[in-house]
Amino acid sequence: MSGESVIKHLDEVVDDFARTVPFFYEPLTRGRAITFVEQHRLNTRQRNTVLKLRVATNCPDWEVRTNILKGCTQEAIADSEYGGGKAHWEILQELGTYIDLELSEIQAAEPLKSTRLCWLAWDSLMSNTHWLEGLIANTCAERVNVPGYGLGLVREKGWFGMERERWRQLFSLTDEQLDFFSLHTEADIEHSDLGWNTVAKHATNLGMEDAVVEACRLNLVVWGQYLQGIADYGDLRD
Ligand SMILES: [Fe+2]
Ligand SMILES: [Fe+2]
Repeated sequence: MSGESVIKHLDEVVDDFARTVPFFYEPLTRGRAITFVEQHRLNTRQRNTVLKLRVATNCPDWEVRTNILKGCTQEAIADSEYGGGKAHWEILQELGTYIDLELSEIQAAEPLKSTRLCWLAWDSLMSNTHWLEGLIANTCAERVNVPGYGLGLVREKGWFGMERERWRQLFSLTDEQLDFFSLHTEADIEHSDLGWNTVAKHATNLGMEDAVVEACRLNLVVWGQYLQGIADYGDLRD
């Protein structure tokens, strides 16, 4: 398999995920939105201070390793490029306050059982695996924020581009208040390109073509479960 055809396979796997996750196509509700803010704030912090760093540790390529750290820094500490100096989870908790949640309430939220299970599953896919498989684990879900996968508005604007539209409609928010979603279209092109370009460059030489495609598929299975956990708890809340 050439680098190009590995990318084609990865794109197919992401497209299949983007077409079949119910969360993307079922209506957004207040309960689901609140649960998304609480869980995704925690999830972003866990992934970018624990899980993705395990991949960086295993990565022998200095440039790739430091680029992983750069992405994690934007998510977990401060993003001066796309986020006005704030970490992405901070911008997400602000979004929560625009839908009338108390900051203290958001900060007190615990991970759902489903979220905890996903962290364990991702840990097994990111901690002791080959760095190229880990890199796909780091970047495959951010790829869905890039337009061109899935159906309808998801395909046209990317997952978070679609979220931006439905959050605007449900809560009558301004462009500025919806910044969490807009910043990701740009930031995640950069974050996910790191995975896609590196795989194109190294997968064939390392004989990892099938392994990275399978890693992508498995990681997205876990992402599907994570989002279903948010949907189910959100529906209970509603
Ligand atoms: Fe982010
Ligand atoms: Fe990102």
